[in-house]
Amino acid sequence: MATNEAMKPVNLVIFGRQGSGKGTQCAMITTELGSIHISTGDMLRAAVEQGTEFGLQAKAIMDRGELVSDEVISGIVAERLAQSDVTQNGFLLDGYPRTLTQAESFVGILNDLGLTLDLALNLDVPIDEVTTRMLSRGRADDTEEAIARRLDLYEKETAPLFEFFLDQGVFEVIDGLGSESEVFDRLNTVISAVISGKSQ
Ligand code: AP5
Ligand code: MG
Repeated sequence: MATNEAMKPVNLVIFGRQGSGKGTQCAMITTELGSIHISTGDMLRAAVEQGTEFGLQAKAIMDRGELVSDEVISGIVAERLAQSDVTQNGFLLDGYPRTLTQAESFVGILNDLGLTLDLALNLDVPIDEVTTRMLSRGRADDTEEAIARRLDLYEKETAPLFEFFLDQGVFEVIDGLGSESEVFDRLNTVISAVISGKSQ
């Protein structure tokens, strides 16, 4: 990716089934772009580690593979997106929006902050492969039951959002199979095209 001092911040969302490699790729992309990786799952896990009352409630929900409330998660994201490191450097949002209600809130949050979404990426990896990856990763919510529930909710609640972003003309599907660097190269190509479009 051709990055330079004068580059306008790039605002991205990444979709993809649980275990598709969003977190892995986001770390590589934000290192390259200098933008901010915002993972709602990582933020919730940080709250769990801090042992706050909210963290304890979130842990119970996450361990079952359910979603925390739309209102709470949109509030957390709105607060984070308003911070100056994000408005100055751009964001890569991972794990949000996940429901239609969240997508609608997201539009309102961006409008309020005067921000524009440049691209929503969908890191596409089949169910069998993501299941294998998660079972070998072993996070607290990577039990067979919770994985099945998360994947089910993804098809029901999150996949319908693709249409929402397609309609806005900012949606690209990326093949998430292959090595981490092969997948990164594919993402890089699409993101670079958006960056050169912005600088024209
Ligand atoms: P979240 O943390 O977002 O979890 P997730 O959606 O289950 O996604 P993962 O983090 O499991 O997968 P990933 O795509 O990041 O893959 P990774 O890079 O780790 O959410 C957790 C919970 O928080 C939710 O269930 C919900 O309760 C709550 N939550 C979060 N956001 C919410 C929201 N908006 N609304 C309501 N609730 C919300 O990779 C997976 C594994 O594969 C790793 O071991 C990795 O090393 C490996 N790997 C990566 N790339 C490759 C490759 N190319 N080849 C082989 N292996 C690879
Ligand atoms: Mg992740």
